[in-house]
Amino acid sequence: MAEELHIAQGGKEEKYALLYKQVTALVESENDTIANMANVAAMIHYTFGFWWTGFYRVSGEQLVLGPFQGPLACSRIAYGRGVCGTAWKEACTQVVPDVEQFPGHIACSSASKSEIVVPLLKDGIVVAVLDIDSEHLATFDETDKLWLERIMELM
Ligand code: SME
Repeated sequence: MAEELHIAQGGKEEKYALLYKQVTALVESENDTIANMANVAAMIHYTFGFWWTGFYRVSGEQLVLGPFQGPLACSRIAYGRGVCGTAWKEACTQVVPDVEQFPGHIACSSASKSEIVVPLLKDGIVVAVLDIDSEHLATFDETDKLWLERIMELM
């Protein structure tokens, strides 16, 4: 993608609509998954100013930390553990308004208050998850779920 990252002004819908176009351009010009994960994490992170935005990739029985933006995070998460491991096990997006209410939540940072985890599927199998943490409670809703799932489909 030749053009500079443009940060959308306006509401969540407008930001996601622009992000979607940017990710479309990105994946059309680059087919390396790690490179695309790195740029998509950066684009989402800096569009919204989240606390932590990144990927965990499936490796055997664990999720292993992939490209991310934000503070240090745990490197490995077991199948079915925490929000990420649950999204992997259920192959389904997890929207968590208050991480302290999620049984087994893995606290990489005490600053994280709410979270969304979206699986990335290839041929119907979860190959990675996108994890986004917010410093605020109840940051993520159906709009985030819908757009982030669309963006993961592009990848
Ligand atoms: N909170 C996640 C762990 C990853 S960190 O938030 C970056 C979880 O419960 O799976």
